[in-house]
Amino acid sequence: MKKATVFADIHYPLGKVDDKMFSSFTEHLGRCIYGGIYEPGHPTADEDGYRTDVMDLVKELKVPVIRYPGGNFVSCYDWHDGIGPKENRPKRMEYAWSSIETNEFGIDEFCRWAKKAGVEPMIAVNLGTGSIKDAGDLVEYCNHPGGTYWSDLRIKNGSPEPYGIKYWCLGNEMEGSWQAGHLSAEDYAKKALEAAKIMKWVDPSIKLIACGSSYDTLPTYLEWDRIMLKDLYDQVDYLSTHNYTMNAGQGLTNYVASYKQLDEHIKNSVKVLDYVKVQSKKTKDLKICLDEWNVWNFQDIKLDSLADLSGLTTFEMTSAGKWEIAPPILQEKYSLLDGIVVGGLGISLLNNCDTVEIACLAQLINVIAPITTVKGGGVFKQTTFYPFELLSHYGRGTAMKAVVDAPSYDTIYGTCNLVEPSVIYDEKTDEIHVFVLNAEETEETELTLDLQGFGDRKLVKHLALYGDDLEAINTIEEPDKVTVKEMKVSGTNTAVLPKLSFNVLVLK
Ligand code: AHR
Repeated sequence: MKKATVFADIHYPLGKVDDKMFSSFTEHLGRCIYGGIYEPGHPTADEDGYRTDVMDLVKELKVPVIRYPGGNFVSCYDWHDGIGPKENRPKRMEYAWSSIETNEFGIDEFCRWAKKAGVEPMIAVNLGTGSIKDAGDLVEYCNHPGGTYWSDLRIKNGSPEPYGIKYWCLGNEMEGSWQAGHLSAEDYAKKALEAAKIMKWVDPSIKLIACGSSYDTLPTYLEWDRIMLKDLYDQVDYLSTHNYTMNAGQGLTNYVASYKQLDEHIKNSVKVLDYVKVQSKKTKDLKICLDEWNVWNFQDIKLDSLADLSGLTTFEMTSAGKWEIAPPILQEKYSLLDGIVVGGLGISLLNNCDTVEIACLAQLINVIAPITTVKGGGVFKQTTFYPFELLSHYGRGTAMKAVVDAPSYDTIYGTCNLVEPSVIYDEKTDEIHVFVLNAEETEETELTLDLQGFGDRKLVKHLALYGDDLEAINTIEEPDKVTVKEMKVSGTNTAVLPKLSFNVLVLK
């Protein structure tokens, strides 16, 4: 059995994990909203048509913030279409995913659902085909108490109290030609700056998120951020970036090491933030809003690697026929291996908590998601539900600097330690929660925790996601094929990590 030691010291904190770290994202895409959140007539639907079986699972995940309504969708979306009496709402061609948008569900339905689900909405405005005035009007509709056209309309539409939406995304992935209304960095900076001005005039308390670079395959990667941040820096609070990991084309060892790629991706965005801050002599710090991250294997189409995506329109990435309502697209079936990799990605988020304040698992229901529903039927947890749930439950508190003494191995992302940890001190419970990815593929690893200054601590709980069949998936027929297993604990500071596993160790 290989051996590894993780060292952490109470005097060396890395940073506080923000409560918004394990947030998520719901887009008008496929069956995420229609048939996911909302299915009037479903046996579990409440008086508003919200599926309560889905809402229960969202609550189980303790998701703090949910981004809405897109994604690529938002750049084609006119929010006015989704308010008022449902019978008057127009059906539109939705270009991003070549679907029909019925507009039965809009901003009011989302905010009411969010309230019931106990989550905070984070709203993206359309800076592609939309105008800066539309963005200001939406802030007025959502946040102004009353006595003006848009706020009174919200009241008339059944919401007397303002929604008080704090977090606003200035568009989505505006760097990419796949985006409706895509702009150059210079043009985005101009438009986003004017939108930001208006939005803050309407409600000065809001926090704004600028679209940064997401795809290192684009020639504008990071250069986009440098250019637009020079103008936008003072107006915004966060820099957005997205990062998806894919199994195909890299082999098991590299795929498991994807956390390292995410780590580098985050650090690249931080470098450009630092550069602009220093170069423009700014004093405030912007934080990272990783408002889309996940494993995405593009199972609707066949891909050999992520690079094959370049040049595709967004709907060419799906199995969508043309102009269907809520087509069952991007309904990924996640394997045990995908679940373990998601756990590793979560470890990278925690280990970057000094710069990442908001991170949204993309997405939440049916579309590249941990929750899958059957139309008119049940709901089940994908394998990725479990690591996300563990991260959300145990990943709160202060992340400590962790040092690893372990055998290493080489990957396309650089040299990695056999075990990748994140050590969290939860002040509320006075517990230490250690997340560990064990990348050893053939045998168990014995892990010793050397935690200085925390007093006498013993391992009281060990939860692990692992198994012999890495391709195993959950289905509605076999919903519990892959779940988290409770391991035997030694009552010491040593744990045996199953081969290729994602673990949470609780020390009291
Ligand atoms: O999450 C699916 C899509 O991925 C989003 O619409 C877009 O922002 C990203 O490219």
